[in-house]
Amino acid sequence: MQSKYCFIAVVVTALCLRVEATRAGSEVCFPPHFTFGVATAAYQIEGAWNVSGKGESIWDRYTHTHPERIFDHKTGDVAADSYHKVKEDVRLLVELGVHHYRFSISWPRILPTGLSNDINEDGIRYYSELVDHLLANNIVPMVTLYHWDLPQSLQDLGGWTNPIIAEYFHDYAKVVFEHLSDRVKVWFTFNEPLSFCQEGYGGTDAPAGNSSGFEDYLCGHNVLRAHANVYRMFERDYRHTGGAVGIVLDFAWMEPASTAAEDQKAAEIARQFQFGWFAHPIFSPEGDYPPVMKQRINEISKRQNFPRSRLPVFTQEEVVSLRGSSDFLGLNHYTTRLVAAGSGKIYPQPSFYTDMGVVITQNPDWPRTNSTWLRVVPWGFRRALNYIRVSYNNPPVLVTENGVSLPRMTHDVRRVQYAAGYLRALHEAMKDGCDVRGYTHWSLINNFEWTRGYSERFGLYDVEYASASRTRSPRLSARYYAKLTRTRCLPNTWE
Ligand code: NOJ
Repeated sequence: MQSKYCFIAVVVTALCLRVEATRAGSEVCFPPHFTFGVATAAYQIEGAWNVSGKGESIWDRYTHTHPERIFDHKTGDVAADSYHKVKEDVRLLVELGVHHYRFSISWPRILPTGLSNDINEDGIRYYSELVDHLLANNIVPMVTLYHWDLPQSLQDLGGWTNPIIAEYFHDYAKVVFEHLSDRVKVWFTFNEPLSFCQEGYGGTDAPAGNSSGFEDYLCGHNVLRAHANVYRMFERDYRHTGGAVGIVLDFAWMEPASTAAEDQKAAEIARQFQFGWFAHPIFSPEGDYPPVMKQRINEISKRQNFPRSRLPVFTQEEVVSLRGSSDFLGLNHYTTRLVAAGSGKIYPQPSFYTDMGVVITQNPDWPRTNSTWLRVVPWGFRRALNYIRVSYNNPPVLVTENGVSLPRMTHDVRRVQYAAGYLRALHEAMKDGCDVRGYTHWSLINNFEWTRGYSERFGLYDVEYASASRTRSPRLSARYYAKLTRTRCLPNTWE
């Protein structure tokens, strides 16, 4: 069958076959068509922020004008300098033996003003060469169109809170498809809309909208409209290229804090607010926002004296266009949270968290990492995958991010243990029947971790940020991952 669920030459084969987890002896092995990769994002690694015609992004503006909000006042101006190190980075990928590489395109590098009347040829050249190098080394390129670096000129118009952006995103995507869809077969429209809408428009990440319970919903609404526009355009004009389009959603597993009915209910509300917000309109059979979100935000808005719900309403046409608008689900998963029923107190000031109305914590006994939000809980991964299977009719899932931040060290045994634990949980989920097609480790190299600067390190390779050449060197985890990609079985030792 060649349904819309088939994507890329390599992954297409996997998608058309029933993927089954196998166990060879005591080993944990993945099926032959399961692909392993690593991921990065443009602003986090490229640098060259104002080179060869690139326009300014909201993260350029933010790090330059608000250094005090970034750890150590760092910027992504040079980052890992990947813009000048395409060949070197591809060499690392070859060393790792990965089957795919997920990277993002910087919108302002392609369209400096954000608009498609002015195309920066150097931007096209850069990504085109990267794609060629990957293909020449048998690595499947997987491209994210938007990983948070919006052109500043579009933010000046309101960014994702202005409905016109759905059209501008469509135009940008068309330019990219025009130049790369002959070679790129796996596309993601957005990376983690929950994060950039909630923390960017509802909080203090760029562009720091700081208007939770209001701008974050506007952002989410326009992102979903933009996603559907691009998916439908691809379906109409580029499907013949043999590619496929999905979206990347982040989903920390929401575990009830106790067996009490109210905590069970609270956990489900949290799942709907934190995952269903974007998953339900696209992957559920009925489409639209999750009923519990619509109901709670409507009621709370009224109690706060608003004449209507702060959650925007889709037209029927939009609901239909969004429903089924993804060939697969890209999943970013790192950790698990505990959810208890909240106090129910309604503040006059709108807030996403008041709307959700639950209490979210983590168990202090779960192992810590270098990121305050990230504790190591592999079993939550299996639960998250099974929740997706049951809630959305077992869509094909590609794990697009999973990884851990640790102190700077070469012998990163804890990263190896993290990856092994999460991969075991993923393997169990596949045995439960979850249709998982691949795994992508975050990240290839240490990179700019947004407001945490370079202080949180997720790389399989270290980057020497003190040196002008940004020297890369493999960690223990890189060697471990290289064994895994070659055998598709979890190595028994990490030495
Ligand atoms: C998710 C984001 O997509 C990525 O940009 C970030 O660096 C990692 N998580 C780690 O926090």
